[in-house]
Amino acid sequence: MSASVHIPVMLTEVLRALAVRPGGRYIDATLGGGGHAAALLARSAPGGQLLGIDADPEAISAARERLKAYGSSVLLVNDNFANLQAIAHRFDFYPVHGILFDLGLSSDQLEASERGFSFQREAPLDMRFSPAKEVTAADLVNTLPEGELTSLLRTYGEETSSRQIARRIVQKRPLRTTLELAKAVEEAVGGRRGRIHPATRTFQALRIAVNRELENLRAALKQAVGLLGHGGRLVVISYHSLEDRIVKQLMLAESRDCLCPPEIPTCVCGHKATLKLVNKKPIVPSPDEVERNPRSRSARLRAAERIITEAEPVPLERMCFAIGNYDWRKPVPLRKRRKEAIKM
Ligand SMILES: C[S@@+](CC[C@H](N)C(=O)[O-])C[C@H]1O[C@@H](n2cnc3c(N)ncnc32)[C@H](O)[C@@H]1O
Repeated sequence: MSASVHIPVMLTEVLRALAVRPGGRYIDATLGGGGHAAALLARSAPGGQLLGIDADPEAISAARERLKAYGSSVLLVNDNFANLQAIAHRFDFYPVHGILFDLGLSSDQLEASERGFSFQREAPLDMRFSPAKEVTAADLVNTLPEGELTSLLRTYGEETSSRQIARRIVQKRPLRTTLELAKAVEEAVGGRRGRIHPATRTFQALRIAVNRELENLRAALKQAVGLLGHGGRLVVISYHSLEDRIVKQLMLAESRDCLCPPEIPTCVCGHKATLKLVNKKPIVPSPDEVERNPRSRSARLRAAERIITEAEPVPLERMCFAIGNYDWRKPVPLRKRRKEAIKM
């Protein structure tokens, strides 16, 4: 296992948006190499606790090494964040003061030659975050009917040449490697156009489909809201408009007291806001950061704060939340819980 080379994106902005405090309890739902997690633990000392989740066992190993110094304050779980609520409940890790999602893939994954995420490195067409998943990019590329491939590229890659690319892929089947696929895309669109490689969107689309990224994000964000205590922060960094739209829509809807269509004069939905927006517009990296770390250029950070009112039907075991003068439920010593999680 090698050390992580991933540079955490918008680190200062993340810590500020999460309003990290000593003794706080945090979930990093996309642990990666543990860069954000290490800073969260440092800032929440003394007494801070972190539950780190990643679907990729290699990310867990790299983060375990990096976070060694924090010993029993850390719990690492190799799972999909679509199971966020079940994981937090299993380890009695709720309510929490903050949850971070730093979506997509890490530089470690992009640069690992055998993972198949990059169109610049020859590798089998894999693209799975987790080896436990059955479907690889090769399976999709080599088995989907042309029409389905076209719509996959259009929906998940927002690719305007989806029809031509899908046709070329089908003609050249079987495609086994990243460079074979990149070449097929170049041929379909008639070579390079501008600075962006023509296969960029095709690779994005396949990765999203293989890992069911949008479905998992939708499921996890809802669960995240339920795990935050009053005043807890939800912070999400997304890297393309499909993800950002989901985050924006959820945060906007959850920050409104009524979701009835405007033509209905009185509210019939009874929806009550569960979030308050921290920033109305997404926060983007500074020009300095983009220069230092070009991979941060498409990042957009959105943050919201949990609000729990007496009107909300909070489950009994969570009644001792910070509503009014109540204190946060005391963190359970993680040493007990860690025996069940991956050993650090
Ligand atoms: C951008 S990286 C996170 C980098 C991390 N913040 C750091 O500072 O090192 C995104 C990570 O999220 C993980 N990931 C993506 N989708 C996931 C999912 N549905 N469940 C769990 N982990 C996921 C990826 O495996 C990857 O390691």
